[in-house]
Formats: sequence, structure tokens, C-alpha cells
Amino acid sequence: MGITFSTSSGPLRALDGVSLAIRPGEFVSLLGPSGCGKSTLLRLVADILAPTDGLITVAGEVPASARRRRAFGFVFQDATLLAWRNAEQNILLPLEIAADARDPRQRAQRLLELVGLAAFGGAYPWQLSGGMRQRVAIARALITEPQILLMDEPFGALDEITREYMNLELLRIWDATRTTILFVTHSSPEAVFLSDRVVVMGTNPGRVKLDLHVELPRPRDPTMKETVEFARHTAALRRALVGETRPA
Ligand SMILES: Nc1ncnc2c1ncn2[C@@H]1O[C@H](COP(=O)(O)OP(=O)(O)OP(=O)(O)O)[C@@H](O)[C@H]1O
Ligand SMILES: [Mg+2]
Repeated sequence: MGITFSTSSGPLRALDGVSLAIRPGEFVSLLGPSGCGKSTLLRLVADILAPTDGLITVAGEVPASARRRRAFGFVFQDATLLAWRNAEQNILLPLEIAADARDPRQRAQRLLELVGLAAFGGAYPWQLSGGMRQRVAIARALITEPQILLMDEPFGALDEITREYMNLELLRIWDATRTTILFVTHSSPEAVFLSDRVVVMGTNPGRVKLDLHVELPRPRDPTMKETVEFARHTAALRRALVGETRPA
């Protein structure tokens, strides 16, 4: 599968020969330098873009029909909450768009509990910390009960402690919902800590360089980051990334 964009400076091969199969319930991270096509790949899966060659199937169907079933939830780098709506109203937005009226407030409350914000349904985005806003964004993505959660650098803007905490929270939520997760990050340790598989991508053209199975037991614990096994995984990712990140 591939995609070529036409730009003012000619055709740009953003992804070339990408072939990935993701199993239901799997946690897969995409890791790679800026411009290697990570966000493009998420947009292809979500049917925001179409491939110029090859095809994509999501749970056995084309992305367009998966999108009509609302199989996806999308979480972006910044929480993109609407400032004039409180947390509960932000979480309910996808249901309003879908005109889905099945017990919306109970569902919002369950999700607020799931993301650890049970008491914050009435809080507005400006009253929440960055980590809390990101949790509202995760709850909003989960309200349509998606099969696949697409997360594009969701914790990139958080400090290290909050990020580690959010990593644990995400694993807990993933365990509770059994959603398939496709997660974009620039951090090798984050990718190893979270994932079943880490896909390393390279640029010019955007392509897959390594598909690494993470052989660490679950549940994951932050102290695992100090183990030789963990270092072995991050070293393999670094070796795959090098050459891409070295200055020309
Ligand atoms: N709609 C578009 N039109 C033209 N070029 C595009 C378009 N979208 C992305 N590109 C180009 O495709 C390449 C891949 O972009 P993409 O945003 O997927 O990279 P990325 O891996 O997500 O990078 P980053 O880590 O910086 O977010 C880049 O060279 C980008 O300029
Ligand atoms: Mg991107």
C-alpha cells in the first residue's frame, strides 16, 4: 500500500510498500522521524485519506464502511476540546454528531469514571490540567465504543511524570475496553513500555523498517524500564532509527 501526494514541488511519496496486519485487541506503536508518514498512516486507516495504490482493510472491510460504523476513535496530540463545553459535554459531542441517543449521560459518566475523572464532568477545559484534558479526549474517543483507537502523539506535550502516569492509565483503559490501539510516538521507551509491537518507519519514501515484537510480560510495570530486556528492545529500535536521525 502506498500514497503519493502532489505538491507544488512535484509528487511526494509519503508511504511506499507499507504492509501491516494488526490483530484485534493488539497494541501497536508507530515510531519514526518527523515526516515518515505516521499521521498519514493513521489518516488512511481512518478513511480521512485514500491510498494511491494498494488497499487497506479494517476488520475485514474497507475503511469507508468501518467509518460509517464508527469503528474508530481518534485522539490527537493536543486534546482539541471545545472551550465552551464542560468535560461531559465534550465527551457527548460524537454521540450528538451520530444522533445516538442511547443513555448518553450514563455512558458519559461511565467513561468519566474509566478515565479517572468521575468528579470532573462539570469542569471546563480551562479548569483542567493538560493530562486531565487528554483523558477527556480519550473518553470522547471511546464514547462511540470504537473497535480501533487511533492515537497521534497523545502524550507528547506532557511532562515526564504525568506522561508515565498516563501510560499506565492508558494500559488500564485498554485492558478494560479491549480496543485495538494504533499509537504514534517519538519515544522508544514509551513505545516499548506500552506495545505488543513497535513498527519503526523511515523517510524518503515513508516505509516500514522494522516490526518489533515486544517480549515483555503483562501487566507492565514502570520498574521494567530498568531491566536488560527493556534496554535490549530500545536498543533495537534505536539501531533501526539511526541513519534516519543522523544529520546529513
Ligand atoms: N495532505 C498533504 N499534502 C501534501 N503532503 C503531505 C500531506 N500530508 C502529509 N504530507 C507530507 O507527507 C509526509 C508525511 O507526513 P506525516 O504528517 O504523515 O508525517 P509524520 O510522520 O506524522 O511526522 P511528524 O512526526 O512530524 O508528525 C511529509 O513529508 C508531509 O509533508
Ligand atoms: Mg504526525
